[in-house]
Amino acid sequence: MKSVLFSRFFILLPWILIVIIMLDVDTRRPAPPLTPRPHFSPYAAAGRGAARVPLPRRVSPGRHAEQRNESRPRAEPEPPLPTIYAITPTYSRPVQKAELTRLANTFRQVARLHWILVEDAAARSELVSRFLARAGLPSTHLHVPTPRRYKRPGLPRATEQRNAGLAWLRQTHQQQRSQPGVLFFADDDNTYSLELFQEMRTTRKVSVWPVGLVGGRRYERPLVENGKVVGWYTGWRADRPFAIDMAGFAVSLQVILSNPKAVFTRRGSQPGMQESDFLKQITTVEELEPKASNCTKVLVWHTRTEKVNLANEPKYLVDTVKIEV
Ligand code: UGA
Ligand code: MN
Repeated sequence: MKSVLFSRFFILLPWILIVIIMLDVDTRRPAPPLTPRPHFSPYAAAGRGAARVPLPRRVSPGRHAEQRNESRPRAEPEPPLPTIYAITPTYSRPVQKAELTRLANTFRQVARLHWILVEDAAARSELVSRFLARAGLPSTHLHVPTPRRYKRPGLPRATEQRNAGLAWLRQTHQQQRSQPGVLFFADDDNTYSLELFQEMRTTRKVSVWPVGLVGGRRYERPLVENGKVVGWYTGWRADRPFAIDMAGFAVSLQVILSNPKAVFTRRGSQPGMQESDFLKQITTVEELEPKASNCTKVLVWHTRTEKVNLANEPKYLVDTVKIEV
């Protein structure tokens, strides 16, 4: 009996080993990439001060959704993925580094994103310079101060900073005008989903989508009929030609380059009208491309950070070490 069991075992043993080896080989084989190569190199775009720290390759469901048309014949080389240029005005305040940290953590997960950070200051600050150097993102660090007379409540913010970002883009792309790119104004305090970047990446001219927590409502959105924007769902100044927040649209680089005079203006611009004043110069409502399932999804939130309570900050007996916050 024992010898029968033994012989059976030895007959089966090689087969068991073969199965184990085959299973092992199969799991070691590298998985086919879900998306074309450029997707996985978020630092591919050139940038000043870009720390090219290779991060572990991550596959998020979001990336997958950004996949290109599968029906394209295999041999054809992929056109480069449009670079997303995010222009962020920022100014010194107790929460600045916290806001920039949240933003960088989001941007680091977006392929081919170039961050144009524009400080509202007479010079580049050490805090922001140090921060950007360690952010691991292709970036450009600019600065321009808002004239004192415009630093009043009720006046539009960040006009000069967004224009500085536009000027940099135009100057940088003077020679290579055919590079695909998309521009987006990313205020430092909003909250951005990763899906938003997939949506804006396909902008042909000017694209639009809903924005959450804005205009005194849960959201504002462009109203869409038969794929076209026909009006605006808003609770605030519905007479605006483009009743949309700065976080609610993206513009292709080509449109920025072919409208070299389009800028944000201070003259006659009231808060809430900056977006309309700018968009009027480059597009029409009929031309707008609705994103986020015909503008039925909120992928960005106009969050605003509460002013921090520093009532107990010491005036004289300060800490023994100097700490950047
Ligand atoms: C709303 C819009 O969402 C903004 O895009 C618009 O610029 C602003 O109104 C306006 O009134 O002009 P809100 O949350 O009220 O946004 O504005 P903030 O978030 O305080 O400022 C918008 C951006 O400008 C932020 O990135 C902020 O860091 C920057 N900023 C603000 C400056 O660079 N300097 C300032 O003095 C104030
Ligand atoms: Mn804000």
